[in-house]
Amino acid sequence: MSNKSTFIITIDGPAGVGKSTVGKIVAKRLHFHYLDSGAIYRALTLKAITKKVNLADRNALIRLAKRTRIKFRQTDSGTRVYLDNRNVTKLIRRPELTAQVYQLANLAGVRKEVNRIQQSIVSGKKYVVEGRDTGSVVFPDAPVKFYLDASHAERALRRHRELEILQDRDEKQRHHSAPMSPDGHRGEAGHPDSHRDASEHGLAYKKVLDEIKLRDRRDKARSVAPLVQARDAIAVDTTHLSINQVVVQILHHIARLAAQRRNNFRRSGLRQSRLCR
Ligand code: DC
Repeated sequence: MSNKSTFIITIDGPAGVGKSTVGKIVAKRLHFHYLDSGAIYRALTLKAITKKVNLADRNALIRLAKRTRIKFRQTDSGTRVYLDNRNVTKLIRRPELTAQVYQLANLAGVRKEVNRIQQSIVSGKKYVVEGRDTGSVVFPDAPVKFYLDASHAERALRRHRELEILQDRDEKQRHHSAPMSPDGHRGEAGHPDSHRDASEHGLAYKKVLDEIKLRDRRDKARSVAPLVQARDAIAVDTTHLSINQVVVQILHHIARLAAQRRNNFRRSGLRQSRLCR
């Protein structure tokens, strides 16, 4: 989509490939807004679970999607997601919810509503939008599209590291708030590494890997808007790249495409002025 003032850059790809991290940085560098379309599917799933809607009842889920208001608000500490005016930014990231989102994402009627929400959010603005089908279905006319990919093993490793950092942070917080014994020591459970060993790490990694593979199967096998690389998207394999290297590649492609457009515009202008003579 690129009418007079709307300009969309799409970034699609499988779970855990780094679309959000990269998308946010690219948007910031270009002074664009950023939209995480997955957050909309997550927020709708949260509402369905909270309202105890049967996730096998298609019509009820579609009705729910039609009656829901989802808003995003940019703050200094990041983007906040509001579901019917309630801040659900953290709630929608819970793993139990992540495991259920596919049930709504599989439904054409729900996707239609989510696409409508996305299109109304970006209207008249410059946006980096990320998801699974933003280049192939939601914004087929976007002038710049990317498809990020990485091996299963690498994506699982990244996700596993991220989870470890979050877990360490939680444990440190718990440690600081644990009561101190008379000799000034905190409880055993407070030490970040006290109950983790190599086999536990291996097990957790295997679980993350299996989850990534399952999510890929669900995203790619979906009959409606499955995860595919749009015909005109630029593919970037991030397996051996750092976040910064991916950002540099994307910005480089954007600059190249912008120069190409300027040249085409100049050439067509020249042709027109010759025709007018
Ligand atoms: O990117 P994410 O993990 O937050 O996405 C959450 C879910 O939403 C995931 O199951 C895939 C689905 N999704 C989708 O079907 N289409 C999109 N454009 C974005 C996400």
